Order: sequence, then structure tokens, then C-alpha cells
Amino acid sequence: MSSFPPNIPAAEIGAGPGPDQRESQRLLRLHQLAKLGELAGGLAHELKNPLSTIKLNLQLMQEDIAEVPGLEPTRARVHTLRKEVDRLHHTLESFLRFAGRIELDRHPMAVNAIINDMIDFFGPQASASRVRLHASLTEKNPVGNLDVNLIKQSLLNILLNAVQAMPNGGDLIIRTDAHDNTILLDVADTGVGIAPEQLPRLFEAFHTTKKGGTGLGLATTRRIIEEHGGHISVQSEPGRGTNFRVELPLHPVLEPPAA
Ligand SMILES: Nc1ncnc2c1ncn2[C@@H]1O[C@H](COP(=O)(O)OP(=O)(O)OP(=O)(O)O)[C@@H](O)[C@H]1O
Ligand SMILES: [Mg+2]
Repeated sequence: MSSFPPNIPAAEIGAGPGPDQRESQRLLRLHQLAKLGELAGGLAHELKNPLSTIKLNLQLMQEDIAEVPGLEPTRARVHTLRKEVDRLHHTLESFLRFAGRIELDRHPMAVNAIINDMIDFFGPQASASRVRLHASLTEKNPVGNLDVNLIKQSLLNILLNAVQAMPNGGDLIIRTDAHDNTILLDVADTGVGIAPEQLPRLFEAFHTTKKGGTGLGLATTRRIIEEHGGHISVQSEPGRGTNFRVELPLHPVLEPPAA
């Protein structure tokens, strides 16, 4: 498993480095991703059109040979080709979400409301995997200046990982809180946990332990959180579970104008 992009410092884990070092690592990563994004956009454009052409022709080929007797092996090969082309397409889309240009469309937004939306949306999927979803939302009702769609996307990656880490079901707890100028968001699962040697590479692009995983989920999540000026960290105990902590800047509450 290689990691990409190169030269990016290892992920900060748990308490990790101090705030200054954390901030300089965040800025370095954002700078590197901005450069990478330009290249990625160009490359993706070059790859997408031929990929669509291949896809379409494979589909037509599949229709052509659908009823022809004696062509079972060819049908199986075309089927494999279509699956692989779909996988390439998916990887390309995921890579673009990770490395492409991100322009935040930010608005003041209550974090608890976002979490409630996500619970409504994700609840059925969690129950289908025998995962109980719990929420413990602070009454402080913290507000962030957020791109809601991207924040939801980044949280969804964490929730999906959590469910995947609990193949026999379990508990998934989402907590919100606020301290000083920071919104705290914890997502804890009772899943398989993460081996200590995996932790430093967890947020690196293409780091995956899953068959069929792209390893871009957490890399994208970290990118989105850091674009918001936030931070993500993880603590895990193999066999017991994992806690992802997202920290986001609190939006200053506007005082009503003096009378
Ligand atoms: N809650 C968790 N519990 C245990 N392991 C986890 C958890 N979240 C992430 N991981 C580990 O981190 C790796 C990277 O996660 P990431 O979401 O980036 O990629 P992925 O889930 O493998 O693939 P993709 O998200 O593209 O489907 C996972 O393969 C898994 O080993
Ligand atoms: Mg994932």
C-alpha cells in the first residue's frame, strides 16, 4: 500500500503535536493539495472522456452478444471489463473529491441540526447493519460557518467506516460540545478498532485495509475539515472501538445592535 501525495507529514494522532505545529501541518497539506488539484483536474478531464467511450462501447457489445449462443466466456469477459471500468470511474470520482478544487459555500449553521439530519438520513442504513445510532447533543447549540454539503460528506465517510468496522452490529454514538472557540464533534463506535501501527497513516490517501476500498474516505474527510480551519484526530483500542474527533471553529455569535 503506497501513500499519496508524498511528503505529507504523518497524521497527528490523539493529543499529537501542539496547536502551532498542527496549524502549520494543516496549511502545508492544503497548499500541497491545491497544487495537486490543478494537475488532478487536468488529468481527470483527459481520462473521463475515453473512459465514457469505453463504457458505452462495452455496453453495446454486451447487448450485441447477449443472445448469441456459445459466447458465454465472452459475455463473462465483457462483464468483467464493465465492472473494472466502473471501478476506475469510481476511483477517479473519489480522487477528484479528495484532490480537486474545493470552494466552500459557507453559511452559519447549527451543528446539532446537521447531526439530526444525518441521523435521519443514515439511521435506516445503520439499523440494516444492526448498528444502534445514539446522539448526545449539547444544549449550547454551537454554530459553525460551514459548507453543509461538504461537512455532511465528511461525516458520512466517518459513519460508513464505523458501520463497516462493526460487521456484527454495535453502537455508534455521536456527541457534540463546544469549548472556547471550538466545536467538538465525536463519533465513537464499538467496532474492531485500529492497530496502533495503522494510526499514523490513517488519513493518508489510498491507505486502506478493505477489499475494494479506495482509501480516500478519511483523506477527503480531513481535507474538508482542514479547509474549514478545523482538525480531525482519532483514538482507538483494538477489539473495543474507535473515536474520531472533529474540531471546527465556532462561528462568532453576532450581538444584536445596541439600541
Ligand atoms: N471506525 C473505524 N474502525 C476501524 N478501522 C477504521 C475505522 N475508520 C477507518 N478505519 C481504517 O482506516 C482505513 C482508511 O479508511 P478510509 O475511509 O480512508 O478508506 P476505506 O474505508 O478503506 O475506503 P473507502 O472509504 O474509499 O471505501 C480503513 O481501511 C480502515 O482500516
Ligand atoms: Mg471509508
